[in-house]
Amino acid sequence: MAITTSAPGKLMLFGEHAVVYGYPCIVTAVDQRVYVTVEKNGSDALYLEAPDLGLMAYSKTIADLGNKDVPKSVAFIEMLYKRFLEQYPQDRGIIVKTKSDFSSSFGFGSSSAVTVAFAKALMVLYEIDLTNKQLFDMCYQAVLDVQGVGSGFDLAAAIWGGTLFYEPPAKTVETIDIDGMAIIVGYTGIKADTATIVRMVGEMRRQQPMVDGTMKEIGDLTQTARQLIVERNWEHLGTLMDNNQALLQQLDVSTDRLEELIQAAHQAQAFGAKLSGAGGGDCMIAMALKQNQQAIETAIESVHGEVMHVSINAEGVRVE
Ligand code: PMV
Repeated sequence: MAITTSAPGKLMLFGEHAVVYGYPCIVTAVDQRVYVTVEKNGSDALYLEAPDLGLMAYSKTIADLGNKDVPKSVAFIEMLYKRFLEQYPQDRGIIVKTKSDFSSSFGFGSSSAVTVAFAKALMVLYEIDLTNKQLFDMCYQAVLDVQGVGSGFDLAAAIWGGTLFYEPPAKTVETIDIDGMAIIVGYTGIKADTATIVRMVGEMRRQQPMVDGTMKEIGDLTQTARQLIVERNWEHLGTLMDNNQALLQQLDVSTDRLEELIQAAHQAQAFGAKLSGAGGGDCMIAMALKQNQQAIETAIESVHGEVMHVSINAEGVRVE
């Protein structure tokens, strides 16, 4: 019997970096999904096919999970499986196949989505009942095993879906309703490595005490953003996006390319715009009235940004 699950990617709306230090963030799940199919096999190994990750055939015996060379593209699956087997020992292995709606370059969170979809598929395959929080804890452990840092916001988006006010690590996961305005996403064409940038900011924070103040300001601003979303005050929310971007500039994580795309969005009547995620490349987002969406997309393209057509508020992990 094969089980297929899927989980959505995500976009950070407010609060990146500060969320690593305990402050809240606002994240939305996007309708770009990662699909995982699992099936028991008769051997004592994990078999993995992930053509979207450039991996045609990979295998590792259960005894060797996490040991020897673990290629980056399979690390999340391998570590999750190892953690799973520690809690729920099995002597027979599985075959795992993954497929993605989106490239891992965009920063939409393909590794968190694949981790969550895989964890859910294992639960269904072995008929184990876990709450969302228990699923989160298992996935978060695997992510920390692989990259050592991270707030888990992307896992929460993949599990719960929708738009979330999130305090790490899943201390608060509150759904908020954000319908009514357009979010435009522009990709810089540059792939950034989140873990490297998070470590860089961590280093800056150790050397410059005032960085703590910046984190707190981002946290406070995110609280206000949540309130403005409830009130549907999009114009003021846009201003907060700009303020959030200014604070991210202080953390030195914005780039010329990101600024160029953000400026183009402003010139086309966006209420606000900022980078989304760790920075250093990946995507920017702009917020606007739906009637201005097209003009903003054209403006982003005119400076050679790639507009990503995504819908926000996507459903969380599910069995297909
Ligand atoms: O680069 P992304 O989209 O994975 O976002 C990273 C967000 C950070 O706050 C910088 C890190 C984290 O784990 O919260």
